[in-house]
Amino acid sequence: MKTQERYDAVAIALHWSIAFLIVAAFGLGLTVDEFPKAWERPVINLHALTGLTVLVLSFIRLFWRLAHPAPELPLTMSPLARSAAKIGHVGLYVLMIAVPIIGVPTLLYRGRSLDFGLFQIASPFARTPEIFRPLTEAHEVASYALIGLAAAHVLAALYHQHIRHDDLMARMSPRRGGS
Ligand code: HEM
Ligand code: HEM
Repeated sequence: MKTQERYDAVAIALHWSIAFLIVAAFGLGLTVDEFPKAWERPVINLHALTGLTVLVLSFIRLFWRLAHPAPELPLTMSPLARSAAKIGHVGLYVLMIAVPIIGVPTLLYRGRSLDFGLFQIASPFARTPEIFRPLTEAHEVASYALIGLAAAHVLAALYHQHIRHDDLMARMSPRRGGS
C-alpha cells in the first residue's frame, strides 16, 4: 500500500542537513588523533562547531515537529512496529540534542576555547579538572548510541523500502512530486 502523505519541505531539509552534519561530526571526533599535531586544535574546533550546528538545527526541528505533526505511519504497520518507530524517533531526538550538549563541557573542561571566527568563548579552566574523564566518556558513549540508533533507523528505512515495499522513504525524500 502506498502512503500519500509526506513530511513537509522544512522537516525534510532539516532531516537531511542534520543527518549529514552528525556523520561529519562523528567522523571528525573519531579521527582527530589521525591528523598532524598542529591540526588538532582547528580539527577539534571544526568538530565542535559542526556539533553545535547539529544542536541548533535539532532544537529548530523539534519545535517545528511539535507545531507540525508527522504524517500517519502506514496502516500496514503492526501496533508493535509503530510503537518501535515512535520510540526510536524520540530516542534520536533526545540523543541529537544530548550528545552536543555534553560536548560543550567536554571541550571547556579540557581547557580548550571555542573559536567562532568573529569571537571566542574562552575556557574558564586553566588545568583539566578531574570531571573531564567521565564527561568525555559520557560524550563518547552517547555519540556511539546516537550512531547505533541511526544505523538501526537506516536499516528500518531500507527494510520498508525493499522488503515491505510501502514507499515509506518517499515521505522523507527531497524529490518533488510525492510518492
Ligand atoms: C552530533 C554531535 C557530536 C557527535 C556525534 C560527536 C562525536 C564525538 C566522538 C565520536 C568523539 C571521539 C570520542 C573518543 O574517541 O574519545 C568526540 C570527541 C570530542 N567531542 Fe564531540 N561530538 C559531537 C558534538 C560535540 C560538540 C558540540 C562539542 C563541543 C562544543 C564536542 C567536543 C568534543 C571534544 C572536546 C572531544 C574530545 C576530542 C579529543 O580531544 O580527543 N563534540 N565527539
Ligand atoms: C544520523 C542520521 C539520521 C538521524 C539522526 C535521523 C533522524 C530521524 C528522525 C528523528 C526521524 C523522525 C522524524 C519525525 O517524526 O519528526 C526520521 C525520520 C525518517 N528518516 Fe531519518 N535520520 C537519519 C538518517 C536517515 C537516513 C540515512 C535515512 C534513509 C536511508 C533516513 C530515513 C528516514 C525516513 C524514511 C523517515 C520517515 C519515517 C516515517 O515516515 O515516519 N534517515 N529520521
